Amino acid sequence: MALGRQQVVFSRGNPLARLMLIGEAPGAQEDGRGQPFVGRSGLLLDQLLATAGLDSHRDVYIGNAVKCRPPGNRKPTTLELAACRPWLQQQIALVQPQVLVLVGATALQAVLGLKGPISQLRGQWQSFEGRACMPIFHPAYLLRNGSTQPGRPRDLTRLDLVAVREHLLAFR
Ligand code: URA
Repeated sequence: MALGRQQVVFSRGNPLARLMLIGEAPGAQEDGRGQPFVGRSGLLLDQLLATAGLDSHRDVYIGNAVKCRPPGNRKPTTLELAACRPWLQQQIALVQPQVLVLVGATALQAVLGLKGPISQLRGQWQSFEGRACMPIFHPAYLLRNGSTQPGRPRDLTRLDLVAVREHLLAFR
């Protein structure tokens, strides 16, 4: 997979933050700029974080389960997730975040090994090596399901991120 990418995409945001977001893998924009979540999904992610009172530069450190863009933006394979896992593990160990937000089903699988539907697991606190983990919908999915009505995926994601902020405030 590393053969097709322009560069390794490692992180953006604040490495001293208490909150770490983990996405799936870089897309074309991320591959070009060398930072995770800088395309359309990233813009929406930043907006959702801001709505919950979280600043994506100050309050959050952002990375991906896989560090190289999969060709054609396909989903990373189980083998690729496993190959990148030691890097992710090191990244978490260095940043020592108190809370992890797992952005989408692939991140949930990569970190916790859970393959259940994200629609059922989102919003439910999990634990990874003593850190609180919150699975949320991936913003690419929210771009296709843009309704902000109560109970719709986008509004549920807002609520999930509010729960994350409240957790950070409660456990200082
Ligand atoms: N989607 C992801 O999961 N990560 C990115 O960095 C960009 C899009």
